[in-house]
Amino acid sequence: MVRNFVFAGLLGGAALTAAAAAAPANVVAKGKVAFAKCAICHKADASGTSTIGPNLFKVAGRTSGTLKGFSYSPAMVAAKRPWTGAALDAYLAAPSKAIPGNKMPFAGVPDSAERAAIVAYLQTLGK
Ligand code: HEC
Repeated sequence: MVRNFVFAGLLGGAALTAAAAAAPANVVAKGKVAFAKCAICHKADASGTSTIGPNLFKVAGRTSGTLKGFSYSPAMVAAKRPWTGAALDAYLAAPSKAIPGNKMPFAGVPDSAERAAIVAYLQTLGK
């Protein structure tokens, strides 16, 4: 019951637009598990080094295409998108629609609750 209520709130987008306000621990934990599909290409540690995709440590609040040392597509740099919760959600829903021409070879996360959990997890990185 409580769980359903939390997820309904996330689906409504309220938790996302409330920016980095602490998400419930169970949602963050779910996002951390779901991040396994991102970890194939993305590191999320303080090393500053990247693999196939840019390191996502402190990505929340960063501007798109600005991690030093990563070779971004011109589209990602030109977008100059501040990675708010809402922007991350839209990008992860449909990467090629949100930023046409970007080179993330990933179809997106169709499930909005799973996406919200991943975004909540990303917002904890480096906090
Ligand atoms: C197959 C590899 C791959 C997978 C899987 C992948 N990404 Fe990416 N991601 C990339 C690449 C490559 C870029 C750089 C895109 C560009 O420069 O156009 C990127 C860019 C990003 C950015 C922009 C970062 C910045 O510094 O501006 C975010 C945020 C992101 N990915 C999040 C995710 C998340 C969250 C997942 C999992 C749901 C994921 N990605 C899955 C390869 C991947």
